[in-house]
Amino acid sequence: MWAAEVEEERADDAQVSDVPEHVPVLKRETIEAIGPQSGGLYVDATFGAGGHTQALLEAAPGATVIAIDRDRDVLLRTAERLSQFGERLRVIHGKFGDIAQLLQQAAVGKVDGIMADLGISSMQLADADRGMSFRADGPLDMRMDRTRGETALELIESLDQEELADVIFRYGEERRSRRVARCIKQAQGDGRLQTTLDLRKAVVRAVGPARVGGVDPATRTFQALRIAVNGELDELGQLLESAPEVLAPAGVLAIISFHSLEDRMVKRAFQDRERWEAFFKKPVCASPAETHLNPRSRSAKMRAARLRSGDLLPAEAS
Ligand SMILES: C[S@@+](CC[C@H](N)C(=O)[O-])C[C@H]1O[C@@H](n2cnc3c(N)ncnc32)[C@H](O)[C@@H]1O
Repeated sequence: MWAAEVEEERADDAQVSDVPEHVPVLKRETIEAIGPQSGGLYVDATFGAGGHTQALLEAAPGATVIAIDRDRDVLLRTAERLSQFGERLRVIHGKFGDIAQLLQQAAVGKVDGIMADLGISSMQLADADRGMSFRADGPLDMRMDRTRGETALELIESLDQEELADVIFRYGEERRSRRVARCIKQAQGDGRLQTTLDLRKAVVRAVGPARVGGVDPATRTFQALRIAVNGELDELGQLLESAPEVLAPAGVLAIISFHSLEDRMVKRAFQDRERWEAFFKKPVCASPAETHLNPRSRSAKMRAARLRSGDLLPAEAS
């Protein structure tokens, strides 16, 4: 299943209650890959609603987790909710692409494991004020960190039609990206592009309304703009680059991705056999039981690898 469809299902979930519960994906598999030990130090690079952090802390009662999120509101709310863990949980507001600097500033030495569960949470998607959903009217913002950076509207204004089409094609895999970009730029030029519903209208003008039971026509464009606004692929690239610097020898990096471009980046990084010993050839996907309970898990792919310490691995030494 394609990630944007999952975003759509997240939105469906979101309509059930005002603040939807974010259900952690591939929780058991990710915690097993990290293998937390009492006394170990771990980073959850995408704290969100804290589902994975909580599972790490519960799996190894003496372990400490440093939880990072670029969304300050989410970070503070979840830290408050998990306050029972006391000093075993430390939180840092920032981007995981800056993980090396963030840990250095926090005077944290090498860590035993890092995990990241990419994308946005159900709460962020459901909050109309964030402008990430085409289902509710809100400002065309889409930033995960509302304290800095360009909003989606500012990004659209700064790109010409062709550049915008490239963004929509690359990150949204939208075949009709040229037509979509033309209608969006027309709406912007006419002063008819301020909110998420304005953007959706412009997309519908380009590609037509949704077919009954089909995916919303705006799904791919919204996903593309959100990825671009938040520089999500650059962030992942920086995390993959910095992880060996901050991991202790034999430390583990586990990443859950929802987009084929992200999974390809992780796969390529782990192919560097001088640096990484990948745990699995193929990514771990959710079981039928998990996808049944949590449709969002359908497009999740988890890859994990151990940092080679430069010493011979047991299999090579024998
Ligand atoms: C899918 S949610 C994580 C959910 C979490 N694993 C849980 O079980 O509740 C992703 C979270 O990562 C944050 N995030 C995404 N990209 C980030 C980045 N580059 N740096 C820091 N946080 C990021 C988002 O703000 C969001 O809260």
